[in-house]
Amino acid sequence: MPEPRGRLITIEGLDGSGKTTLSVALEEAMIARGLPVVRLREPGGVALSERIRELVADPELQVDPRTEALLFAAARAQLCAEVLRPTLDDGRWVLLDRFVDSSLAYQGGGRELGVEAVARMNELATEGCVPDRTLLLRVDRRTGRERLASRGEEQDRMEREQDAFFARVEQAYDGLATADPHRFRVLDAHKDAPAVLADALDALADVLPPA
Ligand code: TYD
Repeated sequence: MPEPRGRLITIEGLDGSGKTTLSVALEEAMIARGLPVVRLREPGGVALSERIRELVADPELQVDPRTEALLFAAARAQLCAEVLRPTLDDGRWVLLDRFVDSSLAYQGGGRELGVEAVARMNELATEGCVPDRTLLLRVDRRTGRERLASRGEEQDRMEREQDAFFARVEQAYDGLATADPHRFRVLDAHKDAPAVLADALDALADVLPPA
């Protein structure tokens, strides 16, 4: 498979870490620089994957951890085939709210399937597509939970997990960032949105063309 020409930037972190706020702000900043950018989210981004998103979020369903990992990988495979690959091949930039690292952290760490096993499962889904830069929004679990609660939405199946689950997710994310400092940048997500955006732009300085 030839190397795609566009660049892939992913945003990762616990629920309530501000990924969506940052990705919207980054999209604006990149458009202002004249970059052709497409913003996507996981699970979802395309019709089939949005349906899988509904399945994995449904608290009424019993979902085995391996099934859960496979569903996220299936949603990802469709996103890659339908838009991610073609968009990158077309030379456009993609800002992606969650990608393989979410599965490594939540299913590999949180569900204790193991990071290696989940990584192998995802190789097939992504055909080895690796982000050019991954921004990890680091927020303590309590702040993340408070932000989620302030949205006033009903908790989905994943959000109903116990603190120990999120502690394992957090630990797995930290392990991934430590293991690959070239790709990862860890941002302090306790800061306000403009400050997080400024930090993100700094963290992308060597990837983005000059303003
Ligand atoms: P997200 O879109 O961040 O949540 P929200 O609905 O609040 O916008 O992600 C949905 C949930 O799915 C979140 O709890 C993290 C989880 N998730 C995984 O466990 N593994 C994955 O591979 C992905 C992409 C998400």
